[in-house]
Amino acid sequence: MLRSVKGLKDILPQQSPQWQHIETVARTMATNYGFSEIRIPIFEFTDLYARSIGGTTDIVEKEMYTFLDRDGSSLTLRPEGTAGVVRAVLEHKLLDSPVTRKLFYFGPMFRHERPQAGRYRQFHQFGVEAIGTDHPLTDVEVISLLWQLFSSLYLKDLTLHINSIGTINDREDYIQKLKKFLSPIIKNLCGNCQRRYSTNPLRILDCKVPICQEATQHTPMLIDYLSSDSRIHFQQVLDGLRDLEIPYTINHRLVRGLDYYSRTTFEITSPHLGAQSTIGAGGRYDGLFQILHGPSTPAIGFAVGLERVMLLLEENQIEKKTPLFFVAGFGESGKPKGFILLHEIRKAGMRADTDHKGNTLKALLRSADKLGAAYSIIVGDDEANSNTAILRNMKTKVQEIVNLKEITQRIHQEC
Ligand code: HAM
Repeated sequence: MLRSVKGLKDILPQQSPQWQHIETVARTMATNYGFSEIRIPIFEFTDLYARSIGGTTDIVEKEMYTFLDRDGSSLTLRPEGTAGVVRAVLEHKLLDSPVTRKLFYFGPMFRHERPQAGRYRQFHQFGVEAIGTDHPLTDVEVISLLWQLFSSLYLKDLTLHINSIGTINDREDYIQKLKKFLSPIIKNLCGNCQRRYSTNPLRILDCKVPICQEATQHTPMLIDYLSSDSRIHFQQVLDGLRDLEIPYTINHRLVRGLDYYSRTTFEITSPHLGAQSTIGAGGRYDGLFQILHGPSTPAIGFAVGLERVMLLLEENQIEKKTPLFFVAGFGESGKPKGFILLHEIRKAGMRADTDHKGNTLKALLRSADKLGAAYSIIVGDDEANSNTAILRNMKTKVQEIVNLKEITQRIHQEC
């Protein structure tokens, strides 16, 4: 039997209404907050991700789907959206606009991670990027968009974790102190962290392996090494969140797995998802534009893991779809008249379907039930000849005769 590739999932028709619901809520909300949609390619030159995300991160070291193009250039399926958005903003000179560039995107991302519940090798993100301002209220605005999105989807028991990891300058001194602290206990850390000690020591702070968490319990705190500018910025972000009554937990170990972050970092977690509990995360990346040879440009954004949101979404929270009208046309003149009626109903903007294979009323009503139709519109030969149809409520089984000319108007009242 043919199977899909490990870690990849089909989105089946019965899940589509939930996906569409999440996408509609996210799109509407981002638009209301002043963001516009950008659609960027699914693959880019490998170098873009290596430079943006960082050569010593897990993503770049071992999770990218990289391949050679026919001309020998190295390409990579996008593991995330921020790098591609920054590349597009620079390439199309979108920074020339006087207003902050506020962009959002949807789409599949690819990471060769170990698959488990909530973690896939192809997954979908909704992301936003607010480019061109380092005002702390922009951080608050972006975080409040994320918080409001989850509230509108009625996701429960969420925690917003927030931290400031300062600027590169703030971290320089701290990293030396951290390494000094860790050097006598390095042998107690997991294999990954032993490697990170020389490549990316900050990441040791948010390693989830219990032995590492225990061993690093008393490490010096980065927050104590922040410059006064970074401290004030962080405090203003916290004040802004408090003013909007968005509850947060300060988590000084929140470092994040991508190297481009500076100052504010944040994650929203749910206790109902097991190990992969982060449903949305992001932060400031004030240095990324320069890394990619652009002008110094502050920016902040987040991305949401849509599969994880799907796992939390309850079916009854989805808006009810419009009713389905099933056209049951049968008999020599009833069948063709029914088909024209089906076309008329759809043209009038209503949801309608039929079963071309059903030739008897009994078989057709059975199909109507299977499709979950709210109403059947029955057109047999008698009805066709008298230019009428029978409107049948599939739940109550109550029927009424309606003139064919008036039927679309009549059923519109049921929508
Ligand atoms: P990230 O933390 O790597 O950040 O991913 C954001 C979210 O994508 C995660 O919180 C999680 O919900 C989801 N996610 C990540 N990996 C997987 C996976 N293998 N399977 C399922 N879901 C996953 C970024 O991608 C940054 N670009 C966010 C950002 C935007 N920062 C600034 N702007």
